[in-house]
Amino acid sequence: MKRFLAVSMVLLSTFSVVAVQAAETKVPVNLPELEEDKYQHQAPTMADLEADESIHSELKRVIRRGYDLFTNTQQLRGKNVFNDMNCSSCHMGEGRMPFSGPVWPAVTTLPDYRGKNNHVNNIEERISGCFSFSMNGMPPEYGSDDMVALVTYHQWLATGAKVYDTNIAGRGYGSVPKPAKAPSYERGEKLYAENCAICHGADGQGQKVDGKVQFPPLWGDNSFNWGAGLVRLNTAAGFIKHNMPLGQPGSLSDQEAWDLAQFMNSHERPQDPRFEKSAKHTREKYLNFHQHTMYGKEFKGKVLGEHNNTGEKPFLKPDVLRPRIFE
Ligand code: HEC
Ligand code: HEC
Repeated sequence: MKRFLAVSMVLLSTFSVVAVQAAETKVPVNLPELEEDKYQHQAPTMADLEADESIHSELKRVIRRGYDLFTNTQQLRGKNVFNDMNCSSCHMGEGRMPFSGPVWPAVTTLPDYRGKNNHVNNIEERISGCFSFSMNGMPPEYGSDDMVALVTYHQWLATGAKVYDTNIAGRGYGSVPKPAKAPSYERGEKLYAENCAICHGADGQGQKVDGKVQFPPLWGDNSFNWGAGLVRLNTAAGFIKHNMPLGQPGSLSDQEAWDLAQFMNSHERPQDPRFEKSAKHTREKYLNFHQHTMYGKEFKGKVLGEHNNTGEKPFLKPDVLRPRIFE
């Protein structure tokens, strides 16, 4: 049921109605079942919020503000966001949907140690991670109105959920077993033209209607940067298999999802904000992350990520990406 929400949000534009209908005639949707042996939580919807009389009107106002920032993050363009993404571009169903990176688990499992930055993170820092990498930007300041509103929205989604149970059903994007054949750019290129280009554009740059992003770009200056979670081929394969093409998740085979991930993530995008010296050096330094990416690898005679292009962003590294030492 919840899957329909993401689709109906897109139905707002007539152009996408055509695209979604075209997409829906092909294959039946086949989604993974929520794992029975894992913790399940039903996050509340905005309709639940309005109906709930126990929530103070001021708290409701801040939750609505967080929701608004999450689904229309472009309002922070040029300040905190320097690409075409909204949080909801990758966390579909307003951050509630299983296998589409539901965001409430971050609230129930943090603070915790995170390998990506090698220290203990709280929810503000986790949100900041997606601003720095996925939005190719700079997070709102800790404790600022915008950050508090976003945290409040995340935390409210976790209403009633069990704290510090990390065995969560539908968390992240779901894994897709490694396919029999090594992922192929060429097969991915063909699959992309057949299944994805109608919305994301033949050149992967997405589409805007009246200046508003309808279909976000998959690579290039206005997409996520080389440090973002979706750059990992396994994560991208999971996202693609369980969420795309829009309106028919679960329709691609495991092999197809990996081939598409390989194709998408062999294109250039803005520099990893953790860049030092060279892409090869940075790859080695963050190998626990980049072992799953094409960054710093040679492809078609060039080393991917070997450039100083930060996209629209006028700086490389937001200050917030600093080590933390609790002494
Ligand atoms: C380009 C895609 C993309 C965009 C845009 C994006 N994220 Fe994420 N986000 C991810 C990925 C990938 C993960 C890691 C999922 C995994 O571990 O498999 C993630 C994880 C998270 C988590 C942790 C979830 C958990 O299970 O602990 C939170 C919270 C989060 N994002 C919030 C945000 C917010 C807030 C924004 C907007 C400011 C945002 N994200 C924008 C891709 C994105
Ligand atoms: C019917 C239109 C449509 C089709 C077809 C489609 N997408 Fe998407 N895709 C979207 C929309 C819309 C979003 C953003 C989600 C939202 O805003 O609800 C998205 C988001 C994404 C994202 C995360 C955000 C970003 O820009 O990186 C990726 C990756 C992605 N799609 C890959 C694919 C791939 C690969 C295919 C082909 C298998 C595909 N999509 C087919 C509409 C489509």
